[in-house]
Amino acid sequence: MCGIVGYVGKKQASSILIEGLRKLEYRGYDSAGVAIIDNGVLSVTKCKGRLANLEAQLLEEPLKGNVGIGHTRWATHGKPSDENSHPHTNEKGTISVVHNGIIENYIHLREWLMAKGYKFISETDSEVIPHLIDFYYDGDIVDAVMKTVTKMEGSYAIAVVTSNEPDKLVAVRKDSPLIVGLGKDEFYIASDIPAVLNHTREVYLLEDKEFVVISNDGIKLLDAEGKTINKEIFHVTWDAEAAEKGGYEHFMLKEIHEQPKAIRDTMTSRIVLGEPITLDDINITKDQIKNLNKIYIVACGTAYNAGVVGKYVIEKLARIPVELDIASEFKYRDPIMDKNTLMIVISQSGETADTMSALRLAKSKGSRVIAVTNVVGSAASREADDVLYTWAGPEIAVASTKAYVTQLIAMYIIALFFAQNKETLSHEEIEEIKIAMMELPEKAEEVLKNKETVQKFTAKTYMHKDMFFIGRGLDYAVALEGSLKLKEISYIHSDAYPAGELKHGPIALMEDGTIVIALATQEAIFDKMVSNIKELATRGAKVFAFAPEGHTEIEKSVFSVTYIPKVMDILAPVISVIPLQLLAYYMAIQKGCDVDKPRNLAKSVTVE
Ligand code: AGP
Repeated sequence: MCGIVGYVGKKQASSILIEGLRKLEYRGYDSAGVAIIDNGVLSVTKCKGRLANLEAQLLEEPLKGNVGIGHTRWATHGKPSDENSHPHTNEKGTISVVHNGIIENYIHLREWLMAKGYKFISETDSEVIPHLIDFYYDGDIVDAVMKTVTKMEGSYAIAVVTSNEPDKLVAVRKDSPLIVGLGKDEFYIASDIPAVLNHTREVYLLEDKEFVVISNDGIKLLDAEGKTINKEIFHVTWDAEAAEKGGYEHFMLKEIHEQPKAIRDTMTSRIVLGEPITLDDINITKDQIKNLNKIYIVACGTAYNAGVVGKYVIEKLARIPVELDIASEFKYRDPIMDKNTLMIVISQSGETADTMSALRLAKSKGSRVIAVTNVVGSAASREADDVLYTWAGPEIAVASTKAYVTQLIAMYIIALFFAQNKETLSHEEIEEIKIAMMELPEKAEEVLKNKETVQKFTAKTYMHKDMFFIGRGLDYAVALEGSLKLKEISYIHSDAYPAGELKHGPIALMEDGTIVIALATQEAIFDKMVSNIKELATRGAKVFAFAPEGHTEIEKSVFSVTYIPKVMDILAPVISVIPLQLLAYYMAIQKGCDVDKPRNLAKSVTVE
């Protein structure tokens, strides 16, 4: 998704903008550009491709100046090209704009502007913005931007500079993230905190329709009517290191290794032995929990896969029926909801457009919403009634890993919290699960030390075009995530199946050498799983299994096995997903893929 950076200060804007954009690369992009004002002259450099292309151009023709805006674009309207790259400018070249989001009524605005003589050079929706500002500009850029946004429908975070008021930067957001970094005599704006972390830890998290006006005189925050507003400064506690690769070859590998800490952090102060579970930002009452008729868990991608585990554990522990939905499908199926229905949305970014639509639909039907998200101040956290933050820290790699395991922890916490309130489990049963959860970080460390079998397996199989992931119960949930990870970063096609379902169709695909990754971590159904593995092995499939330590009998039926530490059955997904993440990672490395930035994917998908 697009990334925005802006700077007003005394330093050269160019290098600060590029550095900030680099920190936002994880959002995915296809082109980049900057607009900088120097001595009252506005200059724009932009091009298709990676940031390195832009840097090369800036090296050849440097742009001087202390005020500027920068952008990385992820194409929605119009192909990736130099013309479609941001910043966009008015015809006179005096106003420049960067935009993240989609202007839904851009065709109408474009026609309206063209009828007034405005000429367009790009295919983007965004280009209407500088022309609209130009139309309304009457010597006051703030006033012109305010009038412009009243005409815009859709989602946007925009930043605007003009050579007519050369020390000023104006920015505003609606349904797209935007933060303001507060330095000493210098200010930043950005789509996300990592872009400013090298310079400041003090930020404002802008809400919808809030404007920021930055100039050499300082900073002003305004509401949509132009009235000054006061905001609390948010102090970022992440260390700068946490947003860097920290010695690992890729962010993804670093983030896989951060999982024991992420699991521990997410449990901190929530899972305390001998004490009832209390959740700071969750205010749903005991009576409301008792009266719940149904829970919908709604999410996309990896977050959805965490929801598969959520459904299983909430139903099992709290005895509340749970329906699971892919967010992009949810609103088109007229779901049955009322004030006694709860929605749990799961979203790493808290900005995913499909998930936000589902959340808004639930609220419009009077249902309560709990957001499980990793991003403080994200749209999901602001719009939901209750929030459970996953404390995974910033996740940079496009493929989600540590966010997923913390989403699983969040599902266990919510399930236990409901079970405690509904008294579906005894105090002793809850304590037993809590003890088992507290052992998870250590068990995760153990798995991370044992990578060799996975590495050897990938070296022998990376050239295959198709693979299957199978499992039963919670193992099937993990199979879904293992399969998604493999597809995302190694581009190997794979499908995940409940093992018992194979004989109803997919077994027809088994032949000599077919690669099957089988999860057999659930003690209660281990023997059933082994039977399914045998059915495949006799048809020539090469089965790579994951089984709990001690179950050596599985070796007779499989090509290779990795043993994973024994944990309580319901908690196994937290541990068994780790070797699958490593499997996807090493497959991608063997194939020479760009692990952290897989093709066609964006970290945060803020369009439906
Ligand atoms: C994860 O590896 C994916 N890149 C993707 O499926 C992601 O989980 C999905 O887009 C949802 O994102 P969110 O958690 O930020 O809402």
